[in-house]
Formats: sequence, structure tokens, C-alpha cells
Amino acid sequence: MTEAPATWSVPDLGERVADTRFGHIRWFSTLDSTNRYLLEEARGGADAGLVVVADHQEAGRGRLGRVWQSTPDASLLVSVLVRPLTTVARVHLVTVAAAVAMAEAVGRVAGFEPSIKWPNDLVVGDRKLAGVLAEAELGGGEVRAVVVGIGVNVNWEQFPSELGGLATSCSLESGRVVDRRELLAEYLVRFDATLDDVDAAATSYRRRLATLGRRVRVELPSGTLEGVAVDVDYFGQLLVETGPGCIEEIAAGDVVHLRTAH
Ligand code: BTN
Repeated sequence: MTEAPATWSVPDLGERVADTRFGHIRWFSTLDSTNRYLLEEARGGADAGLVVVADHQEAGRGRLGRVWQSTPDASLLVSVLVRPLTTVARVHLVTVAAAVAMAEAVGRVAGFEPSIKWPNDLVVGDRKLAGVLAEAELGGGEVRAVVVGIGVNVNWEQFPSELGGLATSCSLESGRVVDRRELLAEYLVRFDATLDDVDAAATSYRRRLATLGRRVRVELPSGTLEGVAVDVDYFGQLLVETGPGCIEEIAAGDVVHLRTAH
């Protein structure tokens, strides 16, 4: 059973996002997963633009079936419902638009510029600041709805040992406490704009993509490969040159940045 939302509307946020498609925000103290909740709402016919936030998630979902960890009140855990009228081939642009919007929002609110690691991780150096998980509802070869979830480590400073050395947060990078509501407002305003012009967002994504030109190891269910990340194609796949003239197309997998390629 889902707990009733702590706040059904957030007035000061409401003002900031009034002119965007994200006017309706439901902010919960605890949910299992904002993505799970919003997907269910989407299937029940919820309007595009609905935003769901939780102070804490008991079963946060990460990419590739993983768990997304967070500690209460220290992360921004937000999902938005987009009804994009796009083809399956181009749906990755919705996550590109989200990653760029959050990178810009962090720059504005926390004062530092994260890079992007393919596909959509926000990173500072090799440490992960935020991750994006999009879950789509498909029908008739079209994308009916996309729930775009993003988890940002905002004021989290003591990571569990398994994340030690792998994660960072806005407060660690900026040296001050960062306001999650401010970050949310900035994200929604910018996400509204990047969704309006996904081609510009894709250009900005490539500029921030620290993976391009890097030697990478890619961990796939079928095994591991290494090479140089040379491009991202029309479908959002990472192209990795594993040998002369030998290009692997990666649709999903875990990328590790290795030493810089020369
Ligand atoms: C990743 O593995 O990098 C993606 C993590 C996405 C986490 C966010 S937190 C808000 C939303 N709700 C979830 O259950 N997951 C996403």
C-alpha cells in the first residue's frame, strides 16, 4: 500500500514551475520507488507532467536491475511523467534531456559542473553524483509514456563502504549544504526547456560526455570488452572501437573509464 503523500502541492515550487509542463508535484516522505509509483499512475491514465518526489525510497530502482541506494532526506529522488509521442528508436533523447537539465541545474544551484558518463550518469571525475532511470510504457510501436527517474546525492556525505570512492554529492563537491527544493525547481524548469528542443540537448550532452575519446571497459551480461569510445549513434548506442575497423554497438551496459586514449 502506498502511503498518502506528505504534501500534495508545494506552493513555492508551484510558483517556480507554473509556466512549465511540470505544474503538479506530489512530494512523499517515503515511497518504495518514485518510478514504480509513477508508472502505475501512468498506466492508470495520469496526465503528462506529473512529478513525484520522495524524501526516502525503500526499494529505489537503479539501471540494469540494481538497487538505488540513498539515505533519508539527503538525496533528490524524483520521477516525472512524459508522454513524448516519439518512436522507440528516439526515446533515449528523453533521458538525454533529463541528464543535461540536471547537470545544468547542479551548475546553477550547487556551483560546479558535472560531466556525463555514458549513458546518463552525472559524474565528477570518476565519482557518481546522479543516475537516471527511464521506464517506458509501449503500445503499437509507439512510446505511450516515459517515467524519467533521477536520483541525485545532494547532502549525502557518509557513503556505505560499497560506494566508498565511487560516489560523491553536491555538498561534498561544493562544500556547503544544497537545498533540494531549489535543485528540484531548477531541474524542472530546465527539463521543460530541454524537452522542447531535444536536438540542442543532444548537442549539449555530447559536450558534457566524458566517455567520448576515452579508453573504456564495458561490462555486459555476455562478458566484458575493452576499446576506445568513439561515438554515440542515432539510437543513443555507444560505439566502441575494439580493434582496427572493429566497432561494437553498445545498447546497454556498464562503462568504466580507463586511462585516456592517445
Ligand atoms: C542508475 O542506476 O544510475 C539510475 C538510478 C535512478 C534512481 C532514481 S531515484 C528516483 C527514481 N526512482 C527510482 O526507483 N529510481 C529512480
